[in-house]
Amino acid sequence: MRHVEAEGLRLFPVGLGTWQFGAREWGYGTTYANEVAPRIVNRSLDLGVNVVDTAELYAFGRSERIVGAALGRRRDETFLATKLLPVLPVDPVVAWRAKGSLRRLGTDRVDLYQLHWPNPIVPAARTAAALRSLLDDGVARHVGVSNYPLDRWQELERALGRPVLANQVRYSLIDRRPERDVLGWAQEHGRIVIAYSPLAQGLLSGHYGPDHLPSGLRARTAPFRPDNLAALLPLLDVLSQVAAAHNATPAQIALAWLIRRPNVVAIPGASSEEQAERNAASADIDLGAAEDEALTQASDAYLESRAQRRSRAGVAGRRLRRVFAGLRS
Ligand SMILES: NC(=O)c1ccc[n+]([C@@H]2O[C@H](COP(=O)([O-])OP(=O)(O)OC[C@H]3O[C@@H](n4cnc5c(N)ncnc54)[C@H](OP(=O)(O)O)[C@@H]3O)[C@@H](O)[C@H]2O)c1
Repeated sequence: MRHVEAEGLRLFPVGLGTWQFGAREWGYGTTYANEVAPRIVNRSLDLGVNVVDTAELYAFGRSERIVGAALGRRRDETFLATKLLPVLPVDPVVAWRAKGSLRRLGTDRVDLYQLHWPNPIVPAARTAAALRSLLDDGVARHVGVSNYPLDRWQELERALGRPVLANQVRYSLIDRRPERDVLGWAQEHGRIVIAYSPLAQGLLSGHYGPDHLPSGLRARTAPFRPDNLAALLPLLDVLSQVAAAHNATPAQIALAWLIRRPNVVAIPGASSEEQAERNAASADIDLGAAEDEALTQASDAYLESRAQRRSRAGVAGRRLRRVFAGLRS
């Protein structure tokens, strides 16, 4: 297994996402938040996982609290990452918000402090000044961004005058936008791409279909619509075939495909301890070049079919608008 190395760090390529911890939108309930989530954290650490990702936004701070309590004395085994809701990412707001995160996490510093999204109004220089203070004060060991286009990542880095270590972006077999430019730049410059929703929120497990939708709000999102679920079948088929060859599950293969890309750390969430175990174990799956190619081609075909459906929907929408415009005139 290959670790991800950057800026002197050595990270396990599969981390743990914790949006699920206490967040109502996932619909996992109280026992999950109080009992299962702490076990997921500890089991993941037992298996070598070190990146644990949370955010002040998740369950309005509850995810940070659950993570902090679960880590307890194991804090130093973790590369602990959290995120700022960047409503006003300037000093002294950033310092105040970061202190809130530290308090909830029960620690005196985080390893990675990320801006959850770009703020379109605040100049990069102002945000960079606030982040520089966090680094200088030892509140954050590294800073990062999330959902940043490449040009804004580079702009912030220039303004900071130091590395902005990572960009956390949606990246999976059904969303490959980071490959357009963010990933290549990260690989070339020793930065990290943290892949969120690496299992497309459970879609790539192959567990779901039109008659069996998942818990929580995700069931109402576009990827879980019947036409999308049908279009996904060929990709799920290839995932299953490769999984069978490795005595693994489709979800594990989806993760193994992602982390085969240099400088990528995937951070799947988990609804059970068993899933967390499987996710950590996917780091040991060594996909061959032909398997990688088959998965990439199946992903290309899915993305192509989705683009065609979107474009047909666009044409139909334009026709409908013309009909309504005709009726009005
Ligand atoms: N920066 C951002 O804007 C942003 C946005 C979204 C997420 N994130 C971060 O990324 C993390 C992961 O993304 P995500 O939670 O959206 O999606 P994800 O990791 O793609 O999907 C997680 C879900 O997949 C299912 N699953 C996990 N492991 C599995 C396995 N081994 N086999 C079968 N099913 C499995 C579980 O749901 P079921 O068992 O219920 O199906 C689990 O809750 C989050 O927790 C969060 O930390 C960041």
